[in-house]
Amino acid sequence: MLEQLKNLQIAAKNEFLKIKDAGSLEQIRVKYLGRKGLISQLMKTIASLPPEEKPLIGKKANECKRVIEYFLEERLSQLKQKSTKNKKEKIDLTLPAFPFLTGHKHPITLVLEETYQIFAGLGFEIAEGPEIEKDFYNFEALNIPKDHPARDMHDTFYISKEILLRTHTSPVQIRTMEKTHPPIRIIAPGKVYRRDADVTHTPMFHQVEGLLVDTSASFSELKGILTAFVHQMFDPQTRLRFRPSYFPFTEPSAEIDISCVMCRGEGCRVCSNTGWLEILGAGMVHPEVFRAVDYDSEKYIGFAFGMGMERIAMLKYGIGDIRLFFENDLRFLTQF
Ligand code: FA5
Repeated sequence: MLEQLKNLQIAAKNEFLKIKDAGSLEQIRVKYLGRKGLISQLMKTIASLPPEEKPLIGKKANECKRVIEYFLEERLSQLKQKSTKNKKEKIDLTLPAFPFLTGHKHPITLVLEETYQIFAGLGFEIAEGPEIEKDFYNFEALNIPKDHPARDMHDTFYISKEILLRTHTSPVQIRTMEKTHPPIRIIAPGKVYRRDADVTHTPMFHQVEGLLVDTSASFSELKGILTAFVHQMFDPQTRLRFRPSYFPFTEPSAEIDISCVMCRGEGCRVCSNTGWLEILGAGMVHPEVFRAVDYDSEKYIGFAFGMGMERIAMLKYGIGDIRLFFENDLRFLTQF
């Protein structure tokens, strides 16, 4: 009987070693350790042994069972290790890597940067001013006193009676003229705020202000500069139209339209079938503005303009709704 137990142990070990996968190992486990397996069958015969042999054989049979169980566990862990090793070796290095998404510039940043470049080529420097502004700079110094009806055109966000979110970049004209002396040739880009929201208006948008002050300057020079800008930003075929308009801080004033870039002036939904699209306001600096900054309006003359960059980006990229710029939808943003 002892011999039989020893042989069983050796046979089980050999069989376990030959197994190559965990599934087949289970079959061998059942063969030796199962309820009707070889160990159980052998244990059943112990009952028929002479009483003095029973304790020793019983003890040896239990030992044999534990050894076979140990073989089984050992082999199982060897096979598991082997299979993870195999899996590691199976990594296919030719497969494409996970997509590595890189950020890129927002369409408004793109048109702003192009604008800086165009105006740099025309000799303009960049000036800046605060977004939280004093009533004085946003309105009063620009010839818009407290009771002026033009204030209604700017639906203003007030922080206090005298402090507000700037409604346009024109206050940078005043801040620049206060700090420096002519000749001045600046553009002032930045965010501006108005209580305004629909497909072409948002409560926050970007403007680029332009200001030129010198001992000589003319409306035709203003026209030439804006024409050069439009031709570079869009294309040289784009036509400009100067319409008489009103701004308290310029006189004369004009609103400038460009021939619709979508339909080339023939009339479409984007230009409301007029063939023209308004992109900016402009004019010759009003003498009252010079007075506010202590400039001699007999000596100096200048012109200014202010354009909405979202409007320009909409036309440049053919976008029908201004709100798309601010929704941060990657399906929209990754197109630029
Ligand atoms: C002004 O803001 C004047 N400061 C421009 C100016 C500067 C005139 C210097 C003369 C001299 P206006 O309110 O028209 O003007 O705005 C200028 C441009 O900003 C508009 O042509 C339009 O393109 C854009 N704009 C106005 N309101 C909004 C808005 N809520 N959302 C997006 N763009 C807007």
